[in-house]
Amino acid sequence: MAITRASACAKAILLGEHAVVYGRPAIAVPIPARTAVVEVHDAAPGAGIGIVAHDLNRRYQRGACPVDSDGEFMLAAVEGVLQHVCPGRSCPDLEISVRSTIPIARGLGSGAAVSAAIARGIAAHLGISIPQDQLSELVFATECLLHGTPSGIDNTVVCCESAIWFRRGQAPELLPVGGPITLVIGDTGIPSRTSESVARVRRRGEREPEAVEALLDGIGDVVARGRAAIAVGDLQALGRAMDRDHALLQELGVSGTALDTLVAAAREAGALGAKLSGGGMGGCMIALATPQGAAHVEAALLGAGAHDTIVSQIEPSA
Ligand code: MEV
Repeated sequence: MAITRASACAKAILLGEHAVVYGRPAIAVPIPARTAVVEVHDAAPGAGIGIVAHDLNRRYQRGACPVDSDGEFMLAAVEGVLQHVCPGRSCPDLEISVRSTIPIARGLGSGAAVSAAIARGIAAHLGISIPQDQLSELVFATECLLHGTPSGIDNTVVCCESAIWFRRGQAPELLPVGGPITLVIGDTGIPSRTSESVARVRRRGEREPEAVEALLDGIGDVVARGRAAIAVGDLQALGRAMDRDHALLQELGVSGTALDTLVAAAREAGALGAKLSGGGMGGCMIALATPQGAAHVEAALLGAGAHDTIVSQIEPSA
């Protein structure tokens, strides 16, 4: 029996989360150490499409109800890709296995990666290739189910698999990277619902529009400084941009004690900068380390209560 495998990797927001929802730029990077992997094979004729989500210990069947929210977005990814690859044709009978090493609801793009892997797997199994921008649109549609009003940065970086400069409504740019960047991610272990943190910022903006606009503008400036630092490989300047971004996100009200504790521990252990990454209010933080200092930062994060750590390297662009 032919099995088709496909995957998609995690992502982290390096600079600019939340402000990106309001039209400011942001920088996101792929995290290849964590992936969602899908296997697709033909099912018995008439079986329809089933998804086995191994990490959730659940099985979902297309067309069957009721479905929980995890099943809902996986089945939405299936629907999206079917409409794209076989409009008007009879539905194939497929069994899809999903496994992921990306923690769920930690700001690392688990949902986007699972959707992208499902879409890639089905399309490849049917012998059809989906252009990257169309794949990203399919994943964006499933992100809307999960997050309500996503900016589009998660689906874009997960489908591009490169460091990107992203601005809502504009074509993403591949980010010029002047030198290697070593990141250490610390997971607080606390689930972070992006829709909730985005709603919190929206409510605050309704109450205090001028203060929130000023914070979002401040984040936009920091992202621009970060881009310039990345282009020339200036890690000190990038670290300062990350520290400033974290301070602005704290003021915005989306950090929390666990995130602040890990950020402080990373800086004490010699990180050049550290900040929350993703929606905040739990989830993950990200620290900039030297290649030699990464293990020390990782140990400090675990010592300060991190549930898990990931070390990831961004290579200079050619
Ligand atoms: C999600 O990774 C980052 C946020 O800016 C939300 C979004 O951009 O959709 C918090």
